[in-house]
Amino acid sequence: EKGGWDSFMEKEIHEDPTAVNDTLLGRFNQAGDIVLDEVRIEPDVFRSIDKIIVVACGTASYAGMVAKYAIEHWVRIPVEVELAHEFRYRDPILTPRTLVVAISQSGETMDTLMALRHAREQGSRVLAICNTQGSTIPRESDAVLYTHAGPEIAVASTKAFVAQIVAAYLLGLYLAQVKNTLFADEIHQIVAQLKAMPAKIQRVLDTQAGTVEATAKRLLDAHSFLFLGRHVGYPVAMEGALKLKEIAYTFTEGFAAGELKHGPIALVEAGEPVVVIVPSARGRDTLHNKVISGIEEVKARGAYTVAVAEEGDSDVGKYADVVFWRPECPTLLSPLVDVVPLQLLALDMARLKGYDVDKPRNLAKSVTVE
Ligand code: BG6
Repeated sequence: EKGGWDSFMEKEIHEDPTAVNDTLLGRFNQAGDIVLDEVRIEPDVFRSIDKIIVVACGTASYAGMVAKYAIEHWVRIPVEVELAHEFRYRDPILTPRTLVVAISQSGETMDTLMALRHAREQGSRVLAICNTQGSTIPRESDAVLYTHAGPEIAVASTKAFVAQIVAAYLLGLYLAQVKNTLFADEIHQIVAQLKAMPAKIQRVLDTQAGTVEATAKRLLDAHSFLFLGRHVGYPVAMEGALKLKEIAYTFTEGFAAGELKHGPIALVEAGEPVVVIVPSARGRDTLHNKVISGIEEVKARGAYTVAVAEEGDSDVGKYADVVFWRPECPTLLSPLVDVVPLQLLALDMARLKGYDVDKPRNLAKSVTVE
């Protein structure tokens, strides 16, 4: 059942490319227009949506944070991302024009279920992004967009995360299509770029696993890991930190790279690892330079620096002790590849420490109590 892999988590990480591919399948026509027939909300209703609130927990909430960057950019409506358990208790502003998007792998997370019930009571529409057919969250939602990642057994979520990002992006592109906020050509181009992602993820798996494993060995005795990223790299940093704490029981913190100087830099200690998600260097945009100078600063304080960076980035090598390389891809799609070495890093650390990677202590695959 593990298909020759030592653990479900290892198998599921290697299914990241298929999860992305299968979630895209059948969601666009020949030309590249988005077709979401299964989502039974009238286009007119979608057209009227003026705000999105994503509610989710854990990994699913980080997928929501990634989607915020893309959907706001493409659709020009505000997207809030709220931890489901915080949402209901803060008197959120919900109207019939608000679309609440509940993201959940299992479809059974009680915190997320309670949040969507509250949203529907307030008259908002709820669309579920879910990996489990017929589970409670899609059943109680107005519409569902299934992620086709296949069953996820390991407690730490991996392939579901990349599939959730893809599903949320399809929703964003569909909204852009019905609201005319992108030209058809632009949508077709993004669809083509999405279709190219499974091969890029596969390339990371094929070429970076050795470097990741050597890094895990090198860092096995580290006391704490810091993860930092900017823009879409920020939720990826949060997700990398979560994976490592969940299964390797390492104290980790993920944060926005821009916050470094506002506090976290005080945590940097000689020899302790800092993992940095580096945006594309193409055009040497300001974000790239700022993140590089963040690496420089932690390096100057003795940190062991690990970067996730785009192939061909000639700046990163100056300050990074080790680099996990990503193939060139559009910034908004980079989380689909950037998270892969971080999933592998957590897996390798846990495995090398002799822990049960599929069933980490104290955690359950789905938490059905509030
Ligand atoms: C946690 C799981 O309890 O619930 C995480 O351990 C998961 O892996 C989170 O991300 C949310 O679960 P779901 O099923 O709602 O996506």
